[in-house]
Amino acid sequence: MTPADASRSNEALCRMAPVIPVLVIEDVSYARPLAEALVKGGLPVLEVTLRTPAALDVIREMASVEGGVVGAGTLLTPEDVSAAIAAGARFGVSPGATDRLLDACEAQDLPLLAGAATATESMALLERGYTVQKFFPAEANGGVPALKAIGAPIPQVRYCPTGGVSMKNARDYLGLKNVLCVGGSWVAPADMMAAGDWAGITALAAEAAGLARG
Ligand code: 3PG
Repeated sequence: MTPADASRSNEALCRMAPVIPVLVIEDVSYARPLAEALVKGGLPVLEVTLRTPAALDVIREMASVEGGVVGAGTLLTPEDVSAAIAAGARFGVSPGATDRLLDACEAQDLPLLAGAATATESMALLERGYTVQKFFPAEANGGVPALKAIGAPIPQVRYCPTGGVSMKNARDYLGLKNVLCVGGSWVAPADMMAAGDWAGITALAAEAAGLARG
């Protein structure tokens, strides 16, 4: 898969909903009800971070949930890429970008939403052909003003800002010309998962799905 193909694929994903839930899941039994709750609320694109021992099993379980598009987050190495694909991930997300990681995703046809934190990092990804990128960690990097400022000289890159995004600031990000969607963990709080409050998570998802894009 070329970087241009990956960018097209990621743009289509980002247009499916204004928010991509970033999921950190400790217990595989949460996978199906959580994915169903989020899809029901209007958030079909789900990023499962490879940060817990359960993550690959969670992807396997979520991959069969109707209406969902499940990807793997926190991809750091080519081995992560292979494992994510084997589990059924349809896209990948990484906090940054290395040549080894980009090579592995391109060779194995996994569209990668790679992270950039600075103009130089965005330029490096753009030079390789990635026009859709993750801005990470969004709030710690200066948030909305920083991303707006990067958009002036580099308008051809569109972003999914992630990291510190919530209902408090998502509207401001989504109002920027260079933002396609945002990512965030707020729609799947650990305490609501532990309590099995799937209706509550559907309500959070519906609120997020209703956010307007600029
Ligand atoms: C992460 O690093 O877990 C993601 O960027 C999500 O960040 P958040 O928990 O601030 O939404």
